[in-house]
This record gives sequence, structure tokens and C-alpha cells, in this order.
Amino acid sequence: MVGSVLMQRMQDEGDFANINPVFFSTSNAGGAAPTFAEGAGKLEDAFDVDTLAKLPIIVTAQGGDYTKRVHTELRSRGWDGLWIDAASTLRMNDDSIIVLDPINRDVIDKGLINGTRDFIGGNCTVSCMLMGLGGLFKNNLVEWGTSMTYQAASGGGARHMRELLSQFGTLNSQVSTELDDPASAILDIDRKVLAHQRTDIDATQFGVPLAGSLIPWIDADLGNGQSKEEWKAGVETNKILGTSEENHVIMDGLCIRIGAMRSHSQALTLKLREDLSVAEIEKIVAEDNEWAKVIPNTKEASMAGLTPVAASGTLDIPVGRIRKLEMGPEYVSAFTVGDQLLWGAAEPLRRMLNIATGTL
Ligand code: HSE
Repeated sequence: MVGSVLMQRMQDEGDFANINPVFFSTSNAGGAAPTFAEGAGKLEDAFDVDTLAKLPIIVTAQGGDYTKRVHTELRSRGWDGLWIDAASTLRMNDDSIIVLDPINRDVIDKGLINGTRDFIGGNCTVSCMLMGLGGLFKNNLVEWGTSMTYQAASGGGARHMRELLSQFGTLNSQVSTELDDPASAILDIDRKVLAHQRTDIDATQFGVPLAGSLIPWIDADLGNGQSKEEWKAGVETNKILGTSEENHVIMDGLCIRIGAMRSHSQALTLKLREDLSVAEIEKIVAEDNEWAKVIPNTKEASMAGLTPVAASGTLDIPVGRIRKLEMGPEYVSAFTVGDQLLWGAAEPLRRMLNIATGTL
């Protein structure tokens, strides 16, 4: 799915005009290359390391298992091209950089000069958070933060999105007769829905029902009460920003799966290093990059502009609900939403490719 979104974005932005692409497939070598890339030959075998090793840059969204196998083989035979990857496998390696250029272009440029060769896309929630609130982080204004996430089904993959929609459908079909009858009792409807959720709803992908419910755990159990998704917030934020030990930002929170389609949301509590007014915070957020959009902290604006439905399919990162919390003048809330397939996955990769080819 990330690969499809990436291809679409590259077409939309005319990226293929800047490169001579060679396409690889793990399952369809010899098949026809995409028609949009003029002059590209047939699909090559994605496990053919000899052919891969001839290329100066490889971009992959094939997944962690592929990365483990092919990247290791390429590097061990001395290939020193640029590896641009959506998978998390290499993300925290000392010799890789997590790419999110509107936030860490300086880190990327320095890395290119200093010989870094692995450029990896960040975790989607972390990238979307930094795209929204990057101004505060870059100016070293955040002492610590909690991020409580509301993550969409797409984070699990295409089959997970399908399962969510199928679950909505079967829930509805359980009670469609009653729903058509305005006189039917809502508690009876609720009982039937719950019985279906608890007994025979298909939850093969997520393991438990997501439609009409939520799942308060994402990714592996690290054994210390924290999920791997939650661990990423702290380590990736600091790695992306390239923070020094003394500027280290503490980030932690709970990651929750909800029944949204492709935009991740998160509610943040930030402890700032200074007592800034809401207006100052909004200005810093809005001025950081062209995609962060401040949503006024009103009911109407929040309901219209600060939802997965509003953000999905766009590169905008709405940031709203910014207000001072009762805990004290440095404690601030915020809520951000971002399409996890765009800024959360494909966009930083295509931009890194353009940086590498000198077109961005
Ligand atoms: N791990 C994320 C999720 C998706 O499950 O929502 C990829 O960053």
C-alpha cells in the first residue's frame, strides 16, 4: 500500500522525469513495468542482488523481511549506493538517518556529506507529530510530552482496512431491520451488536473487533509495560531532530488503534521550557512548514478541520486544540491529524529521493 501511494505521489509530482527508473518485483519478475515510467524495461527480480548492485539509489517499501535479506547482502558485497526504505528495520542503526526533511534537512544534508548511505522513513505517528508541531521541537521549546494516539486501520495494512469495513458492514446487517424501524429499542440493537462482536465477527487481521470498539495496544510487547509503537515516540523523535544529550526531549504515551481509515490522530500534552502564549505557540507552529495548519480552538473549527476525514488524502497536518492546561502555564495541549500513508510513509521517501538527485 505504501508503494502504491509512493508511485502515485511520484507521478503527481513528476519525479520520474528526474531519474532513469528500474522497477523490481518480488513476485512478477519479467512482467511489464508500469506504463507511467517511460523507457523502463521489464520488471527485474527484486532478489537479484547483481542487478540491484548496479544502481546508485534503491527505494523500497517492500517491508522489513526484504530489507533484512537484500540490504545485508548488498552491503556485505560493498555496494555503497543510497538505500531509501519505508521499513523500520534499519531506522535506529547508528549509521542510518530517519528522513523527514521539513524537520531535519540539516541532519540529512550533513549525513550525505559525511557518507551516510541508509535513509529510512520514520514511524508514521512520529513523522506526523513532528510535521505538525515541528516548530516547537526545533526551537527546543519542548521539555517533555505525552502523545496519546488514535491510529487508523491502514497502519496495519491493506487487509486490516478491508477487515474494518467488513466489520462495519456485518454489524449493520445484524440489526438493519431494527434500524429501519424507528420504534425498535436501541438497547436491543446494542445487545445484538455486542453479541456479534463477542462471538462471530471476523477479526482475523486485528485479532479482536475494531469496528464499534478500539484496541489499546499497537505492535510488539516490549515486556516492560510499553509497546514498541510507544517506544518509537521517544527514540525516533530525538533521532529525527538530532538532539544532543542536554536537549533530549522525553516523549511517551499510549498508542491506540481506532476505526479510522488512513489518518492517525494524536492528543498531546506538552511541557514547554517557557511560558509562551497560545498566540505565540500558534505562530511558531504555523510558520515552521507549509503543511502544518493551525486550527482555531473552537468547536466548529475542530469538528470541521481536525478529523481523519478532513486530513485524509491531503498533505496538510492540521494542529488544533492548542490551549493552556490547568497544570500550569508551561503545560499545553494539542491535537494533530495526518494521513499516515502520505507524511507518515510515502512523502518523506520521495522527497529523500529528490534530495539525493539534487532536485529538492
Ligand atoms: N506502526 C504504525 C501503525 C504504522 O501500526 O499504525 C506504520 O508506521
